[in-house]
Amino acid sequence: MKTIILIGANGKMGQAALTGLRKHKVITAGRTANNYDYQVDITNEESLRKLFKDVGHFDAVVNTVGVCEYASFTDMTEKQWMSTILSKMMGQINIVRIGQEYIADNGSFTLITGILNVKPIPFAIADATTSGAIDTFVKCVAFEMPRGIRVNSINPTVLEEAWDVYGEIMPGFEPVPGKLVGKAFERSVDGFITGQVIFVDA
Ligand SMILES: NC(=O)c1ccc[n+]([C@@H]2O[C@H](COP(=O)([O-])OP(=O)(O)OC[C@H]3O[C@@H](n4cnc5c(N)ncnc54)[C@H](OP(=O)(O)O)[C@@H]3O)[C@@H](O)[C@H]2O)c1
Repeated sequence: MKTIILIGANGKMGQAALTGLRKHKVITAGRTANNYDYQVDITNEESLRKLFKDVGHFDAVVNTVGVCEYASFTDMTEKQWMSTILSKMMGQINIVRIGQEYIADNGSFTLITGILNVKPIPFAIADATTSGAIDTFVKCVAFEMPRGIRVNSINPTVLEEAWDVYGEIMPGFEPVPGKLVGKAFERSVDGFITGQVIFVDA
């Protein structure tokens, strides 16, 4: 049994990840105090460092947080770009950058991206761009990780559980059940792969 920090556990993707992590000890973390075992803001370096220090021993970090702004490219402001970059891109890079100082030997990081960087739709340019950045990040940073630490990203299509929110803007997409996406998280945490983008598409 591994000790896993699941960031964003109460979100739709966090709940999907949880289905694949049931045999482990899962410590939940998220933005809102009292809703999780630990409160953390992934856009704040000190908050991330405090989380890892406070938890103590852990074997894996699974992050399902990446808040994105949606607008057409011509309407999207720099502020909207920066808030997406700070969460979905730098937030996730900082989880690995800071977390690698604290994680156990042979531990793993699993990050979240999303299918829109390979199947673009209108209004999702910031989500797509930062997802592409994180997919590239895991492929390249895996070569630099110390102490046998692994890094992968999960790149799923839309969840069945989120179809009511995103279905209208994603014509022609087929949603997948959270349980299937949970298997991808399980493969990243319990397997031996590293530097991989694990796609889950219908
Ligand atoms: N939903 C899908 O079908 C789908 C498919 C592919 C990819 N994705 C990607 O998965 C990611 C999560 O999506 P979701 O649908 O699960 O969103 P969600 O249901 O809105 O959940 C967001 C989660 O992130 C937490 N959070 C937000 N900002 C945070 C911060 N700064 N620090 C720490 N925690 C923070 C929230 O915590 P609180 O509960 O405290 O607010 C919540 O647990 C996104 O990047 C999305 O693009 C989603």
